[in-house]
Amino acid sequence: MPDPLGPQSTDAEIAAAYRGHTALVTGAAGCIGSNLCRALLEAGAARVVALDDLSAAEKWNLPAPTKSGPTSDRLEFIHGSVLDAKALAQAFAPKPAFVFHLAAFFANQNSVEHPEDDLRVNGLGTLRVLEASRAASVQRVVYASSGCSVYGARAPLPLKEDFVTLHLDTPYQITKLLGELYCNFFGNYHHLPVVRARLFNVYGPGEIPGRYRNVIPNFFYWAQRGQPLPITGSGEETRDFTFVGDIVGGLLRCGVLPQVVGEAINLASGVETRIGDLAAQVNALTGNSAGLKQLERRRWDTHDRRRASIDKARSLLGYEPRTDFPSGLRATLAWFQNHHKEIAASARF
Ligand SMILES: NC(=O)c1ccc[n+]([C@@H]2O[C@H](COP(=O)([O-])OP(=O)(O)OC[C@H]3O[C@@H](n4cnc5c(N)ncnc54)[C@H](O)[C@@H]3O)[C@@H](O)[C@H]2O)c1
Repeated sequence: MPDPLGPQSTDAEIAAAYRGHTALVTGAAGCIGSNLCRALLEAGAARVVALDDLSAAEKWNLPAPTKSGPTSDRLEFIHGSVLDAKALAQAFAPKPAFVFHLAAFFANQNSVEHPEDDLRVNGLGTLRVLEASRAASVQRVVYASSGCSVYGARAPLPLKEDFVTLHLDTPYQITKLLGELYCNFFGNYHHLPVVRARLFNVYGPGEIPGRYRNVIPNFFYWAQRGQPLPITGSGEETRDFTFVGDIVGGLLRCGVLPQVVGEAINLASGVETRIGDLAAQVNALTGNSAGLKQLERRRWDTHDRRRASIDKARSLLGYEPRTDFPSGLRATLAWFQNHHKEIAASARF
């Protein structure tokens, strides 16, 4: 008998738990979703159902539809919304054992400008995915929550999972917390095995720059065009930037370890990086001599510093971030260079 899975399990043992199974990824064409789909296929999942309405991503970001690809044959892309009953029925038809709910209306600024769309997708959409998961008796749902959201700006550092606040700054932050509350309801009332993964400032290959996107892809985009990098604050603000590969590793663990059901767990690097230092590194890596430009701080952006505790992830999941910041930035730049044309055509500013 093999040992039961636990935090001590190796990545290979975690991957083996997906072999031969079907997984559904919502928001699959996005930054995290596309990397997760690739990892599930590499793990040997029999089928990966990739649901995305392409409202904020591009199909080319999904694992490539190669002629012979042993991976892409097992990827089924559904172009549809988590709000749409027909698309959900199609996504759940193959009876997924694992559901990774990543689809979201992203993110803060977008939600300030479009609060009803935010509520529809992040609130009602999450409710519908949870309801469909319950009806399909799935083995596990992993909800992509946001540690950048649910702790607000007043929590002591490092941010720990048991801190609770009602002081949130944007509709996105509110609806990411709402998603967690629905997860709790489905866990407590329906006994749906849900894990809430609280992700922090994810970056890496697969995030197409754009008006509502995160700082790192946008910095690379502007730096490659010889533009000064806009700093919306003093540059002293810090974030806990986490490489997408580490996030995917943590999500895969959340999907199969028995002891994490019902838990909220930070997935982060546990390291603070100053935005000014990030800008300097991006300019150095790209050879951009245009420097920085100071912009007014966004009114909703009240977080001066952000650093997560990853003690719980270490002890319950055996999670360990492996990609240091310089390596993660180099991998991101390589992706930008390899997808130069597609990114230029797809960036949404
Ligand atoms: N990137 C981060 O820094 C970060 C941090 C914390 C939490 N998260 C959470 O992780 C998840 C994935 O984030 P990401 O960075 O990959 O974002 P993303 O925007 O790249 O991916 C989300 C995907 O969802 C799709 N989508 C949007 N509305 C949809 C709908 N109604 N139906 C189906 N698909 C829809 C978009 O087209 C996009 O491909 C999100 O839930 C996000 O809130 C991300």
